[in-house]
Amino acid sequence: PPAVLQDRFGRRISYLRISVTDRCDLRCSYCLPKGHTGFEEPQNWLRFDEISRVVAAFARLGAGRVRLTGGEPLLRRGLATLAAQLSALPGVDELSLSTNATQLHKHAASLRAAGVQRINVSLDSLDRACSASITGRDSLASVMSGLEAAKAAGFAPIKINMVLLRGVNEQEVPQMAQFCFEHGFILRLIETMPMGATGRSSPALELGPLREALVARFGLRPLAAELGGGPARYWSTPDGRSTIGFISPISQHFCATCNRVRLSVDGTLYLCLGQEERFELRPLLRAGIDDAGLESAIRAAIELKPERHEFNEAPQKIVRFMSQTGG
Ligand code: GTP
Ligand code: 5AD
Ligand code: SF4
Repeated sequence: PPAVLQDRFGRRISYLRISVTDRCDLRCSYCLPKGHTGFEEPQNWLRFDEISRVVAAFARLGAGRVRLTGGEPLLRRGLATLAAQLSALPGVDELSLSTNATQLHKHAASLRAAGVQRINVSLDSLDRACSASITGRDSLASVMSGLEAAKAAGFAPIKINMVLLRGVNEQEVPQMAQFCFEHGFILRLIETMPMGATGRSSPALELGPLREALVARFGLRPLAAELGGGPARYWSTPDGRSTIGFISPISQHFCATCNRVRLSVDGTLYLCLGQEERFELRPLLRAGIDDAGLESAIRAAIELKPERHEFNEAPQKIVRFMSQTGG
């Protein structure tokens, strides 16, 4: 029988998210603080061959869904080369990317050729000034050309991740929905998680009431199908052409169906976004561990996966920023 990875709570782990850098060219208010130093040293970055070994081992264990994240993954030089290596591995059946898209116009075509199948793009506002105040940079035009390039390269569907900030971009949701409907993008509305001081200081918003308003405004109907491997719940317009996803880690957490773990740039497996449990693979990789040993290490790590986050009970608990584990 094919191998499976299962945790102590009977959840099947099928999805590995890889942060290929903890650096970013933006400083989104809910993610990475302005003036942050203390990024990981290059000698501690997993090399592409090391990442490939980890992904190959996960794939042999039945976890063949892979997402590249950051920081901003396109800041890692040669990302398309890595993507080509990963998508060619036996058992890797889906390779996707989460990006802020500021550099995507340069890389969309080569990423597509390298086997990246899906792209999710962070975009919190269509207003130049609002976007600049959230991201810390006048980035909107570059993101727009990145989106155009992704469309032209044939990525479909493209998902737009909009993190909701009370009093900052919440009033823009109908306009953002219209924009996404026109371009064939799937809009996803996201509740802010209290990761690090940035995540906690952001004016968070509960999605429930907003969803009700959107359902009424656009006549949305719940979609039974899952789109992608993630926690979003989807609703569509009556003609079935346009879709909005809701990601509610705070008001309605989805941990009981969690299928994922995260590999950070320094080779640490994080077993949950909202907990500290982790397992360091880099020392093992650099000590020359063999494939069987690597698989046992991964199984041991999965044993540490906690049942769920405690963002509501212990909002101060996680001091690391989202940019370290990639969302
Ligand atoms: P799809 O496969 O396209 O559905 O991707 P995804 O939603 O899994 O990934 P993406 O990187 O686009 O993340 C979108 C949002 O969902 C981000 O805010 C993530 O932090 C959040 N998210 C993704 N996975 C988890 C998870 O396991 N737990 C929690 N709490 N949030 C998650
Ligand atoms: N809470 C929720 N989502 C976040 N992201 C970054 N920081 C947070 C946070 N504190 C989102 C980004 C990106 C995705 C990978 O994670 O918008 O699209
Ligand atoms: Fe999984 Fe942790 Fe996210 Fe819950 S918070 S869905 S357990 S990674």
